[in-house]
Parts: sequence; structure tokens; C-alpha cells
Amino acid sequence: MLSRTAFRAVQSRSFSSSAARQTKVAVLGAGGGIGQPLSLLLKLDPHVTALSLYDIRGAPGVAADVSHIDSASHVTGYPADKLDEALKDVKVVVIPAGVPRKPGMTRDDLFNTNASIVRDLAAAIARVSPEAHILVISNPVNSTVPIVAETLKKAGVFDPRRLFGVTTLDVVRAARFLGEITNADPKETVVTVVGGHSGATIVPLLSQTPFGKAIKGEAYEKIVHRIQYGGDEVVKAKDGAGSATLSMAYAGAKFANALLRGLSGEKGVVTPTFVKSPLFEDQGVEFFSSDVELGVNGVENILPLGNLTPEEQALLDACIPDLKKNIEKGKAFVA
Ligand code: NAD
Ligand code: LMR
Repeated sequence: MLSRTAFRAVQSRSFSSSAARQTKVAVLGAGGGIGQPLSLLLKLDPHVTALSLYDIRGAPGVAADVSHIDSASHVTGYPADKLDEALKDVKVVVIPAGVPRKPGMTRDDLFNTNASIVRDLAAAIARVSPEAHILVISNPVNSTVPIVAETLKKAGVFDPRRLFGVTTLDVVRAARFLGEITNADPKETVVTVVGGHSGATIVPLLSQTPFGKAIKGEAYEKIVHRIQYGGDEVVKAKDGAGSATLSMAYAGAKFANALLRGLSGEKGVVTPTFVKSPLFEDQGVEFFSSDVELGVNGVENILPLGNLTPEEQALLDACIPDLKKNIEKGKAFVA
């Protein structure tokens, strides 16, 4: 048995070796509905050594609160005029800044407000932490990711391996909904969801899972619709108070954890995410979500879609033109 002193020495050695790795993560929009629970979940992630919380409102308060949690990471909050300080030395930046939908709105209706918020944050990242991995949550993701890419290109620091649109909530929903109708644990019903993050651009590949391939006819139509329009369910239920925040914080933390595991050298970390992709470039679609292997440099390998059923091919055919328009709109905004 270890003596108390020897035990402390082991504890301190393991703390300093993880601290030496230094994985500082920033949340921009940390005071919001997603930002607060996301900050909490990131505080619990052992891969995070420091947490930098920024918002134009309320981040120091959120940071003071989260900082009392007994995990090893150090938390700092930054007010509106301290964006550059918040971004110093960060390895990963997560962006949930921007307005959410109200009932009757599409994600594209958020474009006018969120496009400039995301562009300005991306410009600051390009200036202060050009090598950071950027995770975009702010909607419309199909357009905000191209906005970030174009802003980084303008600054001469764009690396497609380090930019991700977070589509994990679609993956989380698909697993949950498929688990619900098949009475299975969602761990067994993981579905690859490809395309983009809004309505018809969300394409679940149910046929590629043992539980999903059995779903046919009306049940198939229903679950596809529920995965594509799951966000609307929450917007409607919140009745004007915003959109998904808690499930999104969970999904954002889940994706951040996958990326951090890849960055730390873990092999075989594969998950769908919206990245600059060659898969449909010949059809003018520059960004696309598909299974991506994450590694020490970010995007390591973009995996092909695999075999599709005629139904999935039809969903994909409907996705492509919408996605193309959303991407072009984002690019045009920066140009
Ligand atoms: P919210 O209004 O509760 O919070 C947004 C936060 O952003 C606020 O605290 C606000 O002060 C802050 N903010 C605004 N401008 C900022 C700026 N320039 N710099 C830093 N912070 C700024 O909204 P929410 O519910 O947290 O949603 C945020 C965004 O995430 C929305 O655009 C929403 O549509 C999107 N969203 C995306 C997904 C997804 O799957 N990718 C899921 C849910 C929500
Ligand atoms: C979601 O899918 O829940 C988010 O994109 C938020 C929204 O506006 O639906």
C-alpha cells in the first residue's frame, strides 16, 4: 500500500504530465443557453487543461461558477472587450455565439445576425490563434462554416484540417430516435448522418446499421423526418425561448472530446462532421458532413459514404442543391 506522501507524489506526477500537454479550449458565446452547459461539460473533460470563457455578456460569472468544480483544468472568464486575451494560446475554439431560432423561423433566417458575429470571431482567431481547431455550432452551420473558411483564407491562415461544423446533434438524435422505435440502447443504434445541418440537407444512412436497415415504409419516412426536423420539435416546445441548448451542449462536448482524443494521438476516432470535403466537390459542394477520422492534425481522413439504398440516394439528391446554395451564400457574404 502507498504511504500518504508517496500517494501525493504519484498524484502530482500524473497532474504535471497531463498539464504538460496543455490543451486550452475556448468557448465563444459561453454565457448563452448552449455556452453555459457546454462550459460545464468541458470542465469535466480530462483532456482539457485550461478553459477560456468569452461572451459579450456574462462570461466572467459563468467562469467563476464553473471554476469551482473539482477537476484539474483552470478556468478564466473574459468580458466583451477581452476577446484577444481569451484566444491566447488556445488549441481548440468552440463557437456557440449568435441568436437561436424562434417558432416559424428557418435556420437560414438567422443568417443576417449570425454571419457577421461568426465572421468577426473568425477574424480574431486568425489574428491571435491561427493554428487553433475551430468548432462551429452557430447556425446556419451550412453557411457559417464557409464564412469562417473564407475569413481565414483572407487572413492567409486557412487549414481545412482544422475547421469543423458541429453536426453531432443530428447523430445523437438519430441514435436516440432509432433506439426508441427498436427498443434498443442508443449505444447499439449509432447512425452515420451525412450532408449538412438543416432540414433536407440532413441525410441519415439508416441502412448501414443493423437496427436501421429493418425500418421500412411509413416507419422509415417518419424517422427520417424526425431526424431532419428534430430541431423544430425543440423550438416549438420552447415556444419562443430558443432552441436546443442542453442536448446541443452534450453533442458539442461529445464532438470536442472526440477531437481532443484524436489530437492527443488516439487512433481510430471516427465521427461525422461538416468539413471541407472532396466527396461532392465535382457537384460544386465544397463542404460536406460525413464520417471523418480525427488525428493529431485534426482531419486525418474523410471516409466515403458507402452503399446507399435508393431511398438514401433520393435524400442525398435532395440535399445537394440546398447545401450548395447555403455554402455559396456564406462564401458570398465574406467576398
Ligand atoms: P443564446 O442566445 O442562448 O446564446 C448565444 C450567446 O452568444 C449569448 O450569450 C450572446 O451574448 C452570445 N454572443 C452574441 N454575440 C456574440 C459575440 N459577438 N461574441 C461572443 N458571444 C456573443 O443562444 P443558444 O441557444 O446558445 O444558441 C447559439 C447558437 O447555436 C444559435 O445560432 C443556434 O441556432 C445554434 N445552435 C446550433 C446547433 C447545432 O446543432 N449546430 C444546435 C443548437 C443551436
Ligand atoms: C438544432 O438542430 O436543434 C439546432 O440547429 C437549433 C435549431 O435551430 O433547430
